[in-house]
Amino acid sequence: MIKTAIMGYGTVGAGVYRVLTKNREEITRRMEGEEIVVGHVLDLRDFPGDPVEEILTHDFQDILNDQEVKIVVETMGGLRPAYSFTKQLLEAGKSVCTSNKELVAEYGLELREVAHANGVNYLFEASCGGGIPVIHVLDGALTADAIDEVSGILNGTTNYILTQMTKEGQEFGAALKAAQEMGYAELHPEADIEGHDAQRKIAILSTLAYGKFISYKNVYTEGISCVDGTDIAFAKAVGRKIKLIARSRRIENGAYAMVAPMMIGRENLLYNVDGVLNAVQIHGNAVGDVTLFGSGAGSLPTASAVAGDVISIARSMDRRIPSDWSGETLPLLESEAVPFAFFVRFSGSEDEARALFGDISVVRVEGINEIGFTTSLMTEKELQEVRAKTEHIVKAMRLG
Ligand code: HSE
Repeated sequence: MIKTAIMGYGTVGAGVYRVLTKNREEITRRMEGEEIVVGHVLDLRDFPGDPVEEILTHDFQDILNDQEVKIVVETMGGLRPAYSFTKQLLEAGKSVCTSNKELVAEYGLELREVAHANGVNYLFEASCGGGIPVIHVLDGALTADAIDEVSGILNGTTNYILTQMTKEGQEFGAALKAAQEMGYAELHPEADIEGHDAQRKIAILSTLAYGKFISYKNVYTEGISCVDGTDIAFAKAVGRKIKLIARSRRIENGAYAMVAPMMIGRENLLYNVDGVLNAVQIHGNAVGDVTLFGSGAGSLPTASAVAGDVISIARSMDRRIPSDWSGETLPLLESEAVPFAFFVRFSGSEDEARALFGDISVVRVEGINEIGFTTSLMTEKELQEVRAKTEHIVKAMRLG
């Protein structure tokens, strides 16, 4: 028997308990007969009548001091006290699995080193892409490849909101409320909406993909709070959809990484990734293109990834699971220098637009008193130079 504990009985923590109990038979079979049991659940709240009532504790020491507990699930979220609890557990020789992307993006490197120094493991499959096993793929099946690009839709809440706005014409606020009710959104949904959640995820994935540390703080990030019905109408008029895209690319001596709403065409596989689904596209020099997609948020999909980590550790109890997670920092190119084609909403005349942007093909949408067009490839800096010459650029969005 392998005894585990869960810290944080919220959406994901409760999901982990459910997966480990509901699938006990399958898990025990895959563990060649060894059972994984949950011995403690830590939370500040009480859960009268809940199956975990008997094993609920409000005291972290109950887990830390229980010598039988070998693996701990951290689904508390946030940095404090998750960081100090995790570190103490690792130092006490207990492995930890987490869905906490905030903690992994900030302290993942240090915590993995602490784990390895103590002969245990720190795994975080659920920190990126919810139920999509992307970290296992980067850290396992694709370890023979030199990876030069990672991109995708990495936030379920914003993808759900944009999909509802596009397909149902729903207002931003109503779509967000629905995403919160379904357990997709963060406690403070600004983390989703302003792109910070996706920013952390692309930093984690890029660090694993390129083998050098990328700080999420250096990833240029825009959210979706500025996306409105007019943007959606123009996107439809040109046969595109707006998606919050996280992307990084390895270039000579560094990389670039960004998160921003982009207009995606039908030829892009991400075009049909709707609702809470996430997708990750990886390009390697041997494998070529790989696309993984699945549920990017929600209780059971995220719990599936956490529980998978628990089993990975349980299967290799006395072995440190190797990973490519280096402390060396990878310099990032300023996003202003990366060329994109932009879709521009313009409140001036077609002649003025042509004088500023050259030969463009103009789109009009009934009831909207603006024109729209796509520029040729240009950098953000070049776009800013054009902006300085006119007050008629209402908005410019990158094409993905
Ligand atoms: N709030 C996150 C999302 C949860 O919407 O993707 C999963 O990380």
